[in-house]
Amino acid sequence: MKTVGFIGWRGMVGSVLIKRMIKKKDFDNINAIFFSTSQYGETINHFSIKNKFLTLENAYDFKKLYELDIILTCQGSEYTNKVYFKLRQMGWKGYWIDAASNLRTLKESLIVLDPINLKDIKQKLNLGIKTFVGCNCTVSLMLMAIGSLFKNNLIDWIFISTYQAASGAGSKFMKELILQMGYISQNISSFINNSSINIIDIERQISKYMNDPYFPKKNFHVPLINSLIPWIDKKIKNTNQTKEEWKGQFETNKILNTKKIIPIDGTCVRIPTLRSHSQSFTIKLNKNLSVNNVNNIILNSNKWVKIIPNNFDDTINYLTPSSVSGKLNIHVGRIKKLNIDKNCFSIFSVGDQLLWGASEPLRRMLKLLI
Ligand SMILES: NC(=O)c1ccc[n+]([C@@H]2O[C@H](COP(=O)([O-])OP(=O)(O)OC[C@H]3O[C@@H](n4cnc5c(N)ncnc54)[C@H](OP(=O)(O)O)[C@@H]3O)[C@@H](O)[C@H]2O)c1
Repeated sequence: MKTVGFIGWRGMVGSVLIKRMIKKKDFDNINAIFFSTSQYGETINHFSIKNKFLTLENAYDFKKLYELDIILTCQGSEYTNKVYFKLRQMGWKGYWIDAASNLRTLKESLIVLDPINLKDIKQKLNLGIKTFVGCNCTVSLMLMAIGSLFKNNLIDWIFISTYQAASGAGSKFMKELILQMGYISQNISSFINNSSINIIDIERQISKYMNDPYFPKKNFHVPLINSLIPWIDKKIKNTNQTKEEWKGQFETNKILNTKKIIPIDGTCVRIPTLRSHSQSFTIKLNKNLSVNNVNNIILNSNKWVKIIPNNFDDTINYLTPSSVSGKLNIHVGRIKKLNIDKNCFSIFSVGDQLLWGASEPLRRMLKLLI
């Protein structure tokens, strides 16, 4: 039985992963050791594995890490940078599975999303590759939604507008959005129930509270509630792109192993939802396909894709972050040919970025190894 170390399991991606692994009884087939960078020595008492409460190990104990067959980390780039290279230099030959972005660019790593690249994963395993990294969340969700258009070589280019939930930035950020909701709600509840106060006056009051010095915005720097932030991650040097936007083209082409780069660009936007990312794709196809053709190609790509009919009721009920949160389903809708060009389509998609966008590809990679 393989010994697997879990690092970053307390975070959002990690806790979604562990819940799903418990549900799917994945722990029956492994010897699991749980680590923490901050709480080692403590015992986990809110869940048990094989009827045992586990004591946390130090995530920087290289001797302990060296003994593991597999390390699965959802801790973040900083941890990966501090541990991965040193462990490999020490001669550790185990498998490293990671949710963070920094190893995705390495030659020795493979980006994993098995409904898209299972064949490649198996080939690379046979070749002795031992470092497997999940995609960026929006890239995973895009490939789960419209990967079949890529696989059928139908795409000339894509422009993407994203609508990304607060949880995509980490647990501190999600908590801050909830605090922002509470701050506004507490302060305006008396106005809302007073019918003599004009709604525009209430809107002015909200703006005032958003700008007061006690408004919780330590992590986002600005209010996200009642607003949005059209900037995610740092700026890429000598370009006008953010890193989140840059990943779209790089990671998609790496995972698809494209001979000729498919141009992909976009604008990534943080919006005040808690969970699940939405994306609007403008796609130039290299063929004049009908809407029905495109629907069928997408529908037949994997069992999680659900086509949402292009009408008001279905769209407002099923093409929303809340309709997919906590589920593996990827909803794809508003599929339409654009007036501007017979080969151009626009498509809207939503998916849970903590599941297919982060933890599920890692869980499935671990299952392949064990
Ligand atoms: N969030 C997403 O949607 C998403 C999607 C794709 C990829 N990723 C990547 O996955 C990695 C982890 O992201 P994440 O969003 O899961 O990060 P996160 O929720 O911020 O958790 C990361 C770590 O922070 C520590 N932590 C400190 N205080 C905590 C608290 N109150 N609750 C929970 N954990 C706390 C925990 O480590 P210790 O136990 O060691 O203290 C935890 O493992 C990052 O590299 C991220 O870029 C995230």
